[in-house]
Amino acid sequence: MAANKKLLVLPGDGIGPEVMREVRRVIDWMSRRRAVSFELEDGLVGGAAIDAEGTPCSDATVEKARNADAVLFGSVGGPKWDGLPFEQRPELGILRLRKELGLFANLRPAKVQDPLADASSLKADLVRGLDIMIVRESTGGIYFGEPRGIETMPDGKRRGIDTEVYTEDEIARVARVAFDLAKKRGGKLCSVEKANVMQSGRLWRAVVGEIGRAEYPEVELTHMYADNCAMQLASRPKQFDVIVASNLFGDLLSDLAAALTGSLGMLPSATLGAVGADGRRAALYEPVHGSAPDITGKGIANPCAQLLSFAMLLRWSFDMDEDATLIEQAVEKVLAGGLRTADIMQPGMARIGTSVMGEAVLRELDKLA
Ligand code: NAI
Ligand code: MG
Repeated sequence: MAANKKLLVLPGDGIGPEVMREVRRVIDWMSRRRAVSFELEDGLVGGAAIDAEGTPCSDATVEKARNADAVLFGSVGGPKWDGLPFEQRPELGILRLRKELGLFANLRPAKVQDPLADASSLKADLVRGLDIMIVRESTGGIYFGEPRGIETMPDGKRRGIDTEVYTEDEIARVARVAFDLAKKRGGKLCSVEKANVMQSGRLWRAVVGEIGRAEYPEVELTHMYADNCAMQLASRPKQFDVIVASNLFGDLLSDLAAALTGSLGMLPSATLGAVGADGRRAALYEPVHGSAPDITGKGIANPCAQLLSFAMLLRWSFDMDEDATLIEQAVEKVLAGGLRTADIMQPGMARIGTSVMGEAVLRELDKLA
């Protein structure tokens, strides 16, 4: 593998730097054993950036992110910055990056690792082998639509307003990401809205259907109302392969799907933007979990979500499916061998910390490669 791959690494706050350390060891391993070289650049984001630069995401960090092929993000936030006014909070660091890079498609896999099937909120049989990908539109919809706000009416009472707006192009671009994924995976896409009661939902259903017929006839497309989808996810989740939904419905459904896996410390995510003139797709990868202030500094955080986010990065930004699969398999082997960080502890298993988990993954990688 030749050309350098430019990665911006933003560990952030709390357990972010702790779990990112384990990714760096895998990156070192890859350069030794797979002859893959990355050009790594480090940056500050979140509270760490507020402390050093007075802002949660500086122009310099945005510029570095634009110049990189992919961004690997840890997590931001913590009690130290909780007193700051809303406009200055660490969490705005990630929001700014998403906006500046135009990251409109949030990919949230909900995958149950076989050895952890018992950790689910559902019966093990219902979730064993579960492997869903939820694609959530992440820059439009009701979280951003105008008009919005709280206003006082002539009678002195207040009313709150949010507006769900989707343009045809916004729906089409996220739908294409979802169709492409479905093509690569099991060939099934379920598009979710409430076309029965929402106009934006009617347009959503129409546009996704048109794109499916014209561009992806080989993908089996179904449409489902969001409330029914929530019920189906909670009762028969294995019927799904890829799900695509608006910002609001995707937010709810991806958290629901995450709960089915029972392990926040295991869940990665990706957020993708448009393909630029240079052929590169802007992309940021991060674990679903936050900065976990309650366990920061204890050396017990589960690094798997961050490691699996790196695997997604390899797959989606660099087409390195083989290397991504190696990392995923190594994690699964470690779990099958009975090692557990505290968050996924089960009876009879051996409790280990962050760096021992990282070492165990490296050992499995050595065996697999
Ligand atoms: P959280 O995800 O940080 O933690 C929730 C619970 O899960 C905690 O008990 C934590 O110890 C545990 N946990 C999370 N990740 C873990 C891991 N890898 N290994 C073991 N245990 C893990 O969510 P919380 O507590 O609501 O938020 C904490 C801070 O993180 C807040 O400042 C919040 O704003 C921020 N946050 C940041 C996100 C991001 O950077 N994208 C996302 C979510 C929250
Ligand atoms: Mg959420």
